[in-house]
Amino acid sequence: MNENRERIDEPPAAGYLQQQNAAKQYPLYFPNGQKVPSSGIDSRCGHPLIRAHGLERRFGLEKLFLKFEGFNPTGTQKDRIAAAQAADARSKGFGQITLATCGNYGVAGARAAADAGLDCVIFIPAKYHTRRITEMLNVGATIVRVESDYEGAVEASRSYAEKSWVYDANPGPNNAHVQLAAYAEIGREIAGELAENPALVAAPLSNGTTLAGVYQGFDSAARENASKRRPKIVGGSTLRQNPIVSSFLNGSERCVDLDPSAIRETSVNEPLVNWRAADGDIALDAIRESGGWAGYAADYRLVETSRMLRREVGIDVLPAATAGLVVLLDSHRLHHQDGGTFVAVLTGRRL
Ligand SMILES: Cc1ncc(COP(=O)(O)O)c(C=O)c1O
Repeated sequence: MNENRERIDEPPAAGYLQQQNAAKQYPLYFPNGQKVPSSGIDSRCGHPLIRAHGLERRFGLEKLFLKFEGFNPTGTQKDRIAAAQAADARSKGFGQITLATCGNYGVAGARAAADAGLDCVIFIPAKYHTRRITEMLNVGATIVRVESDYEGAVEASRSYAEKSWVYDANPGPNNAHVQLAAYAEIGREIAGELAENPALVAAPLSNGTTLAGVYQGFDSAARENASKRRPKIVGGSTLRQNPIVSSFLNGSERCVDLDPSAIRETSVNEPLVNWRAADGDIALDAIRESGGWAGYAADYRLVETSRMLRREVGIDVLPAATAGLVVLLDSHRLHHQDGGTFVAVLTGRRL
């Protein structure tokens, strides 16, 4: 595990180390009553809530705030869950973590593992554009390219974890409480920073973890403080390539998988594409329970919106990270929702 390497379809031997000194834990309370390890990310800085006066005028909105996650250590919201998973792995005595990624979670996981003194093995679909492999290698991660889609890479990473007593840091039922709690901090930060209750909060969707976590954060803030209300939750994802949006639009009670053969990744939509959403049911419940909705954003709209944010707000945002904002603006243009404070979570910067 000392040497950086990139190989196809061949996971390395486990070589884990039992950690003697587990990281100190600072438990947090979250709505389901579970105590989870702190993500270690200081919520007092680094996640600005920016008032977008220019966009308010341009789109006829009363108040629009942008919650920008691009200043996280590796540039996306994924640093929050990566830090939480690495802390959990350490507290359980693991010496190595594994995860699958299209890029952003991989860099975040590699960095969080290195910070926690853990080895990290990352599975990436061979066909993905993934521009961030060098960053993963630079902090000592091992990369395994697999001839499959993202879901196949998750399977490969999981079975490697099971066979080799390595910590599985992938999204899904085993880790949902850790990841939702880490993302709930986004909702709690917004609720704490704004004097008024937002009417609507929008976020991008892939596995649905970010959006569901944000909702849990508002839910927990509302339970603790009766003056805080839960906003409508709006999800945006890539055109016809995400099961949460298609299930919402079809009126399905549960999140129904898409046909894997219909999935087309592009360099723009990769962070948002999947045919099975690991936390799809929880995200769908959050959208419905809050009275919100979900919609699609075509690649060109993601790119256009990212350019508009650079030009008019002065922030550099990853096109995929604007999917929630695109759906919020489109639905406002078409239906002219009531006024109030709207918040768009922009999950990453252009890297
Ligand atoms: C920048 C960015 N935004 C949003 C998402 C979607 O997050 P989730 O899988 O939690 O729905 C991803 C996932 O890879 C991402 O990389």
